[in-house]
Amino acid sequence: MQESIKDLIPYDPGLTIEQLEKQIGKTMVKLSANESLWGPSPHVYELLRQKTALNYYPDGAAVRLKQLLAEDWELAPDYFCMGNGADEIIFLLANSFLNPGDEAVIPTPTFSSYETAVRIVGGKATLVPQPELTFNLEEIASLTGRNTKMVFLCNPNNPTGTIFSAQALKAFLAQVSPQTLVILDEAYCHYVQDAQYPSSRELVRQYENLIILRTFSKVFGLAALRIGYAVASPKLIRELEKVRAPYNVNSLAQAAAIAAWQDKPYLQKVVDETCTERTRLIQRLQECGLKLLPSQANFVLIRHAQAILVAELLLQEGFLVRNTASFGLPDWFRVTIGPAEKMDSFMEAVRKVLQVI
Ligand SMILES: Cc1ncc(COP(=O)(O)O)c(C=O)c1O
Repeated sequence: MQESIKDLIPYDPGLTIEQLEKQIGKTMVKLSANESLWGPSPHVYELLRQKTALNYYPDGAAVRLKQLLAEDWELAPDYFCMGNGADEIIFLLANSFLNPGDEAVIPTPTFSSYETAVRIVGGKATLVPQPELTFNLEEIASLTGRNTKMVFLCNPNNPTGTIFSAQALKAFLAQVSPQTLVILDEAYCHYVQDAQYPSSRELVRQYENLIILRTFSKVFGLAALRIGYAVASPKLIRELEKVRAPYNVNSLAQAAAIAAWQDKPYLQKVVDETCTERTRLIQRLQECGLKLLPSQANFVLIRHAQAILVAELLLQEGFLVRNTASFGLPDWFRVTIGPAEKMDSFMEAVRKVLQVI
């Protein structure tokens, strides 16, 4: 066994929805993993039905998909690296750029894969707690030294849903060493309505140490197929390509991503409905006296002194939400936003649960 993984704990996926339904005796609504409850564009299913060449390996260079992304981003295809989910890219980053003992700065609470990836390769994860639950980039920059190899910034952040502004990010990039890689995880960027949100499209042209992460798992509704990507200067992408397995993204995922990417009206519909439901849900939760953070993502983080019990009682009502104790937030729980009728029945369940505790 590698010394670096001695203290790591395997990821616990919990019970499946089918197992939970059997246990609780109810149909469950999964609001725990920030997937899209709208599902992918109908074009994805049409295309997958026609896709029959399962006997051939996928296109290891994802030529068509990268071409499409490149056109939209107005960059050359060599600015892109495809991954088996954005998750895989996080592990590729650690494999490509960290030697044992190298430091990665990670403001917390945040997505857990960053720390895991750093620790697997024997890197030193410097966790920077953010007690206000919004990233203080000035503080994070001041703790990022010349020897820091990478910094992980999630925007909007998971599990808080909060964002930092373009102004704050620009100041941060100007302050940190050009030798430090800044990883900007924008898994939830499509849901942002705040005009102060950074344009990573502009910044990636300007900063050769910036790496942007995107995924098809959220707004595009393709979480099951596992596909995401990195955008960065070709020099950095080449390093990621060295450690990427040749066929890491399967043919169905590539085809589905192409169909999903091209269906812009559907994308807009999902974004619009999610944002409408986010506003409605936040308002109704606040009317129940609950405290929550100002989310710009497809989920909300809600505070309750008995959050773990609330999550348990919501489960009995048929709603699986994410208790955030594993993020170090035992007094909070996270709820994915879905279509109106699901949110209406969720609110009924919330009211019922709040009456009994
Ligand atoms: C912030 C963030 N980054 C990356 C991922 C992983 O995305 P993927 O499904 O593409 O691996 C997630 C998944 O929840 C996430 O919340």
